[in-house]
Amino acid sequence: MPPPEPSNAPPALTCVGLAKRFGETVAVDGVDLEVPRGHLTALLGPSGCGKTTVLRMIAGLISPDTGRIDIDGRTVTGPDISVPPERRNVGLVFQDYALFPHLSVGRNVAYGLSDLSRRQRRARVDEVLELVGLGGLSHRLPTALSGGQQQRVALARALAPSPDLILLDEPFSNLDAALRATVREEVRTILRAAEATAVFVTHDQEEALSLTDNVAVMHAGRLHQVADPQTLYTKPATRFVAEFVGEADTLPGTRAGHYLVDTPIGRLPTAAPVTSDAVTVVIRPEALRLRPATDDRRTAAGAGIVIGISYFGHDQLVQVELDNGALLRARRGPQLDLHRGTRVSLAVDGPVVAFPADPQADPRIPSDDEAATTLASVG
Ligand SMILES: Nc1ncnc2c1ncn2[C@@H]1O[C@H](COP(=O)(O)OP(=O)(O)OP(=O)(O)O)[C@@H](O)[C@H]1O
Ligand SMILES: [Mg+2]
Repeated sequence: MPPPEPSNAPPALTCVGLAKRFGETVAVDGVDLEVPRGHLTALLGPSGCGKTTVLRMIAGLISPDTGRIDIDGRTVTGPDISVPPERRNVGLVFQDYALFPHLSVGRNVAYGLSDLSRRQRRARVDEVLELVGLGGLSHRLPTALSGGQQQRVALARALAPSPDLILLDEPFSNLDAALRATVREEVRTILRAAEATAVFVTHDQEEALSLTDNVAVMHAGRLHQVADPQTLYTKPATRFVAEFVGEADTLPGTRAGHYLVDTPIGRLPTAAPVTSDAVTVVIRPEALRLRPATDDRRTAAGAGIVIGISYFGHDQLVQVELDNGALLRARRGPQLDLHRGTRVSLAVDGPVVAFPADPQADPRIPSDDEAATTLASVG
């Protein structure tokens, strides 16, 4: 857990109405984001959705067309204000680490510490190298380190000046899968130990959910939801979030009550009030229960046929085709009691999430008209 928030301290980061266009491309379209002190926040979204652009604006490497950025209560970007990157007290860690190959580990880490005396500088370098588990490697060249070790040097360099905020852009994407899991755990432990506030960019939802206090989901330049991992998963604010975060299949449905929808697999309770007559219902594979269908249930609502099984050992993913042709997946334990061709009855555990079938009717998503208005005011 993050350290308790000191009362009335300003958030480590506040972004208000950030927008950025590159020529015809709308890269970022009205992003509001607040990051409390000591929190790790992931900026999650598919390739090209604007994550790096947001990070570069926070770092001061590019200027937004409109919007304001406060770091630790001080406005660093705003109308007539543009504090240069080196005076924002922000640490940066990029995908390629960007270490100076001809400088030793120690001198790489000392890079941002020019304000300190030589002795203080050496002490601080030793301290952060110890923190990232590389004590004693100060004299090595980065080229003589593993990928994971280089990543930790980059982190040590970013942490050395005790920044208000650390920004990491896809910091694990250069590592192979096995190393990745270990290094990201290490990085989290190091950031926690340093009581750092961090925003890290990723398009890997598992990484975002497992590492951070809060996840901000972006799509096409807009923030869809900022929430803790569990809220994001169980109460996605938009259909995009539901389908991007975790596995999700959808079924068409109709409103049957305030908290009820009728679907091809029967009447299901919903987690939130149903806001539209025609809805799209999201079904998570782990919530779908399958049982071999008995004769009298063959024609009941909620029947289908197993068309495929992906077996992983610890669990399996069973694909079911409903009688109306819709496809659903069910995650089940390792016992193989169903087979291709088995006729099954379906039930859903817990409430489901339902979105208006017509996205234009979803009050949570800005319509294209509103987007056009935003653009007009930006231009
Ligand atoms: N300097 C630039 N000039 C022109 N277009 C740019 C520039 N930088 C980014 N873009 C465009 O802005 C959009 C957002 O880019 P951005 O790099 O922020 O995406 P991203 O979410 O970081 O993607 P990825 O996951 O692939 O790194 C993309 O369409 C990209 O092509
Ligand atoms: Mg990027």
